[in-house]
Amino acid sequence: MEKVLSYLSEHQPRFVRELCDYVRFPSVSAQPQHQPDMAACAEWLLNRCRGLGLDARVCPTPGHPVVLARTPRRAGRRHFMVYGHYDVQPPEPFELWKSPPFEPRLEGRSLFARGASDNKGQHLAHLNAVEAYLRTGTELPCDLTFVVEGEEEVGSRHLADFLKTNRAELACDAVVVSDTGIPDLKHPALTYALRGITAVEIKLHGPSRDLHSGIYGGSVDNPAMALCQLLAKLRDKHGRIAIPGFYDDVAALSAFERKQLARLPFKESAYRKFLGVPQLFGERGFTPIEQRSARPTVEINGLTSGYQGEGSKTIVPAWASAKLTFRLVPDQQPKKIIALIRKHLASLCPPTVRMELKTGHGGEPYLVSPTSALAQASLRALKRAFGCEPVLMREGGSIPIVTEFKKVLGADTLLLGLALPDDNAHSPNEKFSLDCFERGMRMSAELWPELSGACKTP
Ligand code: BES
Ligand code: ZN
Repeated sequence: MEKVLSYLSEHQPRFVRELCDYVRFPSVSAQPQHQPDMAACAEWLLNRCRGLGLDARVCPTPGHPVVLARTPRRAGRRHFMVYGHYDVQPPEPFELWKSPPFEPRLEGRSLFARGASDNKGQHLAHLNAVEAYLRTGTELPCDLTFVVEGEEEVGSRHLADFLKTNRAELACDAVVVSDTGIPDLKHPALTYALRGITAVEIKLHGPSRDLHSGIYGGSVDNPAMALCQLLAKLRDKHGRIAIPGFYDDVAALSAFERKQLARLPFKESAYRKFLGVPQLFGERGFTPIEQRSARPTVEINGLTSGYQGEGSKTIVPAWASAKLTFRLVPDQQPKKIIALIRKHLASLCPPTVRMELKTGHGGEPYLVSPTSALAQASLRALKRAFGCEPVLMREGGSIPIVTEFKKVLGADTLLLGLALPDDNAHSPNEKFSLDCFERGMRMSAELWPELSGACKTP
């Protein structure tokens, strides 16, 4: 292991240069004009994997391709999968970036670029650890397969089918995913739960065209107003979602969990300042950490209607629309929740407008035992790599494919994220900490002997 770790230390400057090359691809899965950049990014990753001696291929899907790379399969060895995604969120609004999103900028120990933290830097750390094993002639104690997809940020539409098609090749003892966060460098973490998600788009149609608000306003409903009234009824003033049946399947937080979550470092005033809000808001009866990781929410992600240009325009708009996402917690099921949402919205919609509902991507919440032999093994790897005691946490974000790993491959997922709270994932000025990058490589190196050993004694 010493050889592997020294190799990692020696090659840090090159690893950073390679991460810079990787984040230069504007691999924005949501925007069709970036399709060629997606393909080029997958190709770059393919070559990186082949360059370090992995058996790698780019697998087409009806959407963006999956990059699959594996170490040689040996009989009698444990097999783990490392999952990541090379697609990134749209970088807009550009004007808020201090430097262009796809031109990496180093400042101190931070690398700024869209995708640096979510997720290119995080899965590259794992690849670099494998390189260190292979180049130092250190035998890997297990077989590894990397699955790096290009559609995570748009709901992993085609990955479940990909898992089914390649079920035999991908069958594994566990999946390792570094695509979550840690509170800070002194608190490396094993995340044992993620929230699920379900997306809906509501459009209210009013008059057949925008109308003069002086001539017609007052005699027809205003769809923007109707939409605001409807949306306002989705949540009460205490932060509880006001949809009948919505909480029926929510698993209560155990006293043990609440104690674990209360252990995480958190200062309300610093958090408030960091987010730039005058006061925090969340469901009554829960701490901010519980609210953002273990309780369901509804969020308006986008709201559009009427005239948005400069100056004023006196109209009754023809339509108004809103993009919503609900974050779900164990044991809420997206399908059941969507049915409840549909029913409730239909009952709230006034007869003066016509409602159109589109459902978007969805993903189930995830919860895995934090006390399993594999979980304990990963905590030991974290402790050695970061040099301090790791914590157990839940995360509010979603990685819908992890429930498919369980359903299709029968494998649990170990969420060992490397992002810091101020990494600005999905925001302008996303960055990745080079300290997290380096510790992530060490964690990955330490992980494989630990996990392989833990599998023998279930
Ligand atoms: N890396 C995130 C997920 C994440 C972030 C989990 C922070 C836990 C903590 C991932 O790339 C992501 O953004 N997922 C989307 C999924 C959605 C598009 C279906 C999300 O959570 O919004
Ligand atoms: Zn993301």
